[in-house]
Amino acid sequence: MNTPAIPGYTLGTSNVARSPLSDEEFALLKQTVLLGEDDVRSLRLAGEVLDDQIEAVLDVWYGFVGSHPHLVYYFSGADGKPNMDYLGGVRRRFGQWIRDTCAANYDRAWLDYQYEIGLRHTSAKKGKTDGIASAAQSINLRYLIAFIVPITATIKPFLAKKGHSAAEVEAMHTAWFKSITLQITLWSEPYVAPSTF
Ligand code: HEM
Repeated sequence: MNTPAIPGYTLGTSNVARSPLSDEEFALLKQTVLLGEDDVRSLRLAGEVLDDQIEAVLDVWYGFVGSHPHLVYYFSGADGKPNMDYLGGVRRRFGQWIRDTCAANYDRAWLDYQYEIGLRHTSAKKGKTDGIASAAQSINLRYLIAFIVPITATIKPFLAKKGHSAAEVEAMHTAWFKSITLQITLWSEPYVAPSTF
């Protein structure tokens, strides 16, 4: 696979903490979000559909964050102003994440990177990847969870843009929702006491 060199993107490298979740626990979590082989196939199709629309999707998501001061705050530097280097650096990894979400094979490297992304949303690693002294120490967990809705709702028009049937679009959208819910659940791990995760 030809992965472009994206600063700070470390999936599959040794620069990623190991997820404390065991393979068995991860398998049970996947079962709980009802993620099956049909969904994996639908995500692969979504990957083809979204491939040349990534920048347009990111424009919508960045527009959403940018138009809400309580969200753009998390991309601010120590001076409290939105940091363009920070927004730009994260954007490249965000684009790759769309591709990874559609191509995921749910192996240990993928699972470990979910833990890493979770850490990057918390005080453990926020700002460190891009060398930013950010205003916020951590992204509040409540927004991480609530963000599942806009990230899921806004993808549907893009999934419908390539002439697939309503049933195919629905299947891609459902699979996307399951994957995002699975990922945000995994990202929440560093936020809570190990015994309660
Ligand atoms: C980083 C996705 C919620 C702010 C990232 C990255 C992705 C992502 C893919 C880059 C990961 C990497 O480094 O490879 C998501 C998704 C969310 C979510 C899918 C929820 C469904 C939020 C919310 C905020 C936010 C609510 C607050 C505005 C950030 C920031 C970073 C980041 C500031 C950079 C973290 C760092 O310093 O490394 N997010 N995010 N995210 N996200 Fe989120």
